[in-house]
Amino acid sequence: MSEAKIKKITPESLEEAADLLRRGQLVAFPTETVYGLGADACSDEAVASTFQAKGRPQFNPLIAHIADISWVDSFAVFSPSARKLAEAFWPAPVTLVMERKPDCPISLLVSAGLDSVAVRYPSHEGARAMIAAFGNPVSAPSANVSGTVSPTTAEHVFQSLGDRIPLILDGGPCLVGVESTVLDVRADKPVLLRAGGLAVEEIVEKTGLDVLFPDKDPALPRSPGQLSSHYAPRLPVRLNALYPEEGEAFLGFGAVENATLNLSEKADVREAAAHLFAYMRLLDKPCYRGIAVSPIPMNDLGLAINDRLKRAAYPRS
Ligand code: TXA
Ligand code: MG
Repeated sequence: MSEAKIKKITPESLEEAADLLRRGQLVAFPTETVYGLGADACSDEAVASTFQAKGRPQFNPLIAHIADISWVDSFAVFSPSARKLAEAFWPAPVTLVMERKPDCPISLLVSAGLDSVAVRYPSHEGARAMIAAFGNPVSAPSANVSGTVSPTTAEHVFQSLGDRIPLILDGGPCLVGVESTVLDVRADKPVLLRAGGLAVEEIVEKTGLDVLFPDKDPALPRSPGQLSSHYAPRLPVRLNALYPEEGEAFLGFGAVENATLNLSEKADVREAAAHLFAYMRLLDKPCYRGIAVSPIPMNDLGLAINDRLKRAAYPRS
């Protein structure tokens, strides 16, 4: 395939994207969290080509993206907690894992053969406009090669998948910068499968729901696709560093000295989340021998940042 075209979001580029999706092709598009690699969620072939383009293991299910809450009724079951969360937050950076309806038209490849489906209604206007123009659910993992740092600009997508897809819609840098929070909402209490762009504190405060953490209870469901090594730059990553060692790049947070780049000088975890992946890419250069990262607090989006950093630092074979 020839190189991907990068196009700003206009009525014409949205129509082109919808048309490519209808023809079973892949389109990268911006969301508020990271760029997604979109495909027709109801087409086995289109979804299969997503796994192929990313080199993603087929046991890791994808998220179905929608452009209106009412779309859910045609393919998944709202539990009471799912309803509550959707009404409180959607559109937002939170993905809800629901039970598939028996006649669910969404490809089983999206669910990796499970009887559940992950649903996300993104708040990014460009994303919603593209999904609405297509008119059906769009499956979309992050638009990068599996295991590598997620893309937060159209240029990042181009670097990763530019030779494998026809079109990248450019909506500028993603404002949240870490992937959506994933909650299994099939039971009364939501289970946190992935910390992400909607803070657990906000979920608890706004809904009164008790969020459960699988790492604290082995009986709870776990994310099928969360690999120990993920979101990884080429260089080794060293966590909770107070200063850089010889030859390391230093990704700082707060009032630290000698930072090569600082995620947030004012120690704001939301600003840090928005910078995280772009700065990891900028520091992933052969002139350094590793990336040392400041400690990041565990509150608010700090939970998601620490999750991504832990996986980025995980020893690779
Ligand atoms: O912010 C996001 O969520 C971005 C944008 C593009 O929307 N998408 C994204 O997709 O991060 P991906 O494929 O990189 O991550 C999807 C996560 C994985 O951890 C996967 O295991 C989980 O959602 N997931 C998907 N379907 C699931 C299911 N049926 N049950 C449990 N977890 C599921
Ligand atoms: Mg991903």
